[in-house]
Amino acid sequence: MSITAKTMVAGVVGAPVRHSLSPLLHNAWLRQAGIDGVYVAFAPHQDAFPAFARGLRGGAIRGLNVTIPFKEQALALADTASDLARAAGAANVLLFHEDGPIEARNTDGEGLLGALAVQAPGFDLAAGPALVLGAGGAARGAVAALIAAGAQDIRVCNRTVARAEQLVEALTGPGGATLLRAYDRTDLAALDAALVINATSLGLNGGPGPEMPWRLTRPDAVVLDMVYRPLNTAFLQEAQAHGLRTVDGLEMLIRQAVPSFEAFYGLSPPDIDARSLLLSALETGG
Ligand code: ATR
Repeated sequence: MSITAKTMVAGVVGAPVRHSLSPLLHNAWLRQAGIDGVYVAFAPHQDAFPAFARGLRGGAIRGLNVTIPFKEQALALADTASDLARAAGAANVLLFHEDGPIEARNTDGEGLLGALAVQAPGFDLAAGPALVLGAGGAARGAVAALIAAGAQDIRVCNRTVARAEQLVEALTGPGGATLLRAYDRTDLAALDAALVINATSLGLNGGPGPEMPWRLTRPDAVVLDMVYRPLNTAFLQEAQAHGLRTVDGLEMLIRQAVPSFEAFYGLSPPDIDARSLLLSALETGG
C-alpha cells in the first residue's frame, strides 16, 4: 500500500526508541487489515517531549504509544485521562482528537492481565497474595492493574523500601478493598504468593534477576517477568526450575498493543502470528 496524503499516522515515542518492537507489530497489523496507515518511531530530546506532544494537538497524528522515559509526562500534559492511567501515574497511549483534546490511557495493565490469561489460563487472582518486586513506574502500573482487576492482597517489595511505601500510599484507595503493603525482603518470611511479578529492571540484557526466595510461593504460583530481552530471563528460568508456571514480557507487550491499535484505528487487530514475528526480530537483535 502506498503512502498518500490520506495515510493515517501513529507511532511510538521514547528515548531511546530504536529497539522498540511496536513499529514492526503495528505495521504488520495495518498491512494485514488493509488499513491506510503507517506507524513510526519518534525520539525527541528528553526536554522536548511536552512541546513535541502538545504540537500534535488537533489530530496532527492519530495517536502515540509512549514508552520510557516519557510515560509520566504524557499523563501530565493530557487534557483527559482514564482512571487506570491516573492510578498508574503514567500513560502509554496518547490520543489526539481532531476537536482538540489530548487523551491519556494506560493499556499496560490490560497487557499484564491479557498475558496472564494467554500464558497461565485458569489463573485466579483470588488464589492468594500477589508479590510485586520493584516500585518504579512499571511496578505502579502493575499494582494499579491488579487492584482494578479485583486482587485482594498485594505486597510490594523493593530494594528501596521508602519507594515501595510511597507506591502503597499512592494506590491505597479510600475503600481499602485491597490489602496493599510495602515490604522489606526480611518481612516476607511467611508469604504464600500465588503470583510473583518482576517489575524491576533486573534481568535486562541477560543479567541476573531480582533475588527471590522461592519458598514463599505456592506450588501452583504463576511468575511473570516484565523484562523480555532475553525472552526467557534468569528470573523465569529459576521459576521454571521450581516447577512454577511462567508468563513472559513479550506476551505483555503484544497484549498492551491490542487496545492501543483499537484506540488508534477503531478496529481490532487482525489475526496474525504476532508472537512469531516479534520473536524473530528479538532473535536477530531487532
Ligand atoms: P520503571 O519506571 O521502568 O519501573 P524505575 O522507576 O527506574 O523504572 O524503577 C526500576 C526498579 O528496578 C526500581 O524498583 C529499582 O529499585 P530502587 O527503587 O531501589 O531503585 C529496581 N532496581 C533497579 N536496579 C536494581 C538493583 N540492582 N537491585 C534491586 N533493584 C533494582
